Amino acid sequence: MLELTHTTKTHDESRQGEALEMATTGKSNGRKLYIESYGCQMNFSDSEIVASILIDQGFETTKDYKDADVVFINTCSIRENAEQRVRNRLKEFEAAKTRNPGMIVGVLGCMAERLKAKFLEEEKLVDVVVGPDAYRDLPNLIGKVDDGSKAVNVLLSREETYADISPVRLNSNGVSAFISIMRGCDNMCSFCVVPFTRGRERSRDPYSIVKEATDLFNAGYREVTLLGQNVDSYKFTPTVGEGVEPLPIVNFADLLAMVAEVSPELRVRFSTSHPKDITDEVLYTMAKYENICKYIHLPVQSGNSRVLELMNRTYDREWYIDRVDAIRRIIPECGISTDVITGFCTETEEEHQDTLSMMDYVKYDFAYMFAYSERPGTLAAKRYEDDVPEEVKKRRLTEVVNKQQEHSLYRLQNFVGKVHKVLIEGFSKRSDQDYCGRNDQNTMVVFPVDSRYKVGQYVHVLGESCTSATLIGRIVE
Ligand code: SAH
Ligand code: SF4
Ligand code: F3S
Repeated sequence: MLELTHTTKTHDESRQGEALEMATTGKSNGRKLYIESYGCQMNFSDSEIVASILIDQGFETTKDYKDADVVFINTCSIRENAEQRVRNRLKEFEAAKTRNPGMIVGVLGCMAERLKAKFLEEEKLVDVVVGPDAYRDLPNLIGKVDDGSKAVNVLLSREETYADISPVRLNSNGVSAFISIMRGCDNMCSFCVVPFTRGRERSRDPYSIVKEATDLFNAGYREVTLLGQNVDSYKFTPTVGEGVEPLPIVNFADLLAMVAEVSPELRVRFSTSHPKDITDEVLYTMAKYENICKYIHLPVQSGNSRVLELMNRTYDREWYIDRVDAIRRIIPECGISTDVITGFCTETEEEHQDTLSMMDYVKYDFAYMFAYSERPGTLAAKRYEDDVPEEVKKRRLTEVVNKQQEHSLYRLQNFVGKVHKVLIEGFSKRSDQDYCGRNDQNTMVVFPVDSRYKVGQYVHVLGESCTSATLIGRIVE
């Protein structure tokens, strides 16, 4: 899923658990909620739904867990170290709970779904375990804990999309927001825990998505990112009512166009694309609308067809190259990023070289790179031996990271001397004398503040120099 750009960042390790800021509806129940999120952007997006549900019940949010009556941790299971971080964090909560025994500690998200009631045995301080499809039940579950019992709801749903819940945008810059367009995943990549933690794939009503985008635009937002594990398989089939003209089926290309039509001033991004499903129709739609950003996250995982088959990715090297060629043909200026796993079961040195040569072929703008981590219950865990030694996985990972570093620098150097349309997202992390924002290709651009332009406005920036992660420039008229 999409994250802030930096070459060596990974999905779960890069993001510190982030706490929501203050929010309240006014009809307070006098209780304070703290929520911290790990993992992919979908999880962060879900936390905004959870906050919305509980604020509706009169909760106020706080940024300090020590001050909270209810402490939630929204968890990720994608790799073993993602789970380890959550366990470590729970240890830190323990001291606060000892001081305040009335404090409710809840585990949400993918780890909750994976471990279910076992969590209550393993981590004594935990009172509530709630899976990603059960957040509407939270008020009831908190009520059960108030009555003195522990509570679990990890039911997965085939329908739930939280379409009618409007998320509270609490950690937002007021300019860019994420919109979940689907949930779950029906692919069975053999390494991946997501189908087990998030359940079956389902697409959200496109009209509720367009409404959310419109509301955001009217509230001053200028960029939305449409989120799903595999956005290219988005498909909404309207239910047919009696005597009503049936509405057409909406696919991802249609949805992109619908959201792009909200306003030419609203940038549209999306993540993640699956190489097996991305169509030329989607690419032509991207080319047609100036406000659909020219950037595709297209995880390759491996450059070798035998490994891809073991991974059950359902495409091979040639298919992936064909999709990259189609992108370059239809949208020549498009940025492409990827995910890579090194040291998957039985991967040989030669097969690893195929991943490096794939990287040379595409010259990705950016990549998330991981050493394979076996996850209990997945197809790979059942079928294959995790037989690549840890130090070999790590060495291959270093080679992949080094190569990506070169390619990121190459891409950014190509941006120097050119003018980029940038949406000002805020002040740069290093200095309030500089603004930051991204160009169409999702590269972070930093440039001196010009008081004529405010956060949320578009400016043209001439790239003057770069590192492998940031383009540095100045505003030009
Ligand atoms: N739906 C997205 C991926 C979501 S998970 C897609 O299909 O591309 C994000 C990334 O985590 C994956 O692309 C993969 O590179 C990595 N990942 C998933 N399971 C992993 C595992 N068991 N070990 C190492 N990396 C893994
Ligand atoms: Fe996991 Fe594959 Fe689904 Fe992505 S497409 S979430 S890697 S199973
Ligand atoms: Fe992690 Fe679940 Fe996302 S396992 S990557 S939080 S879907």
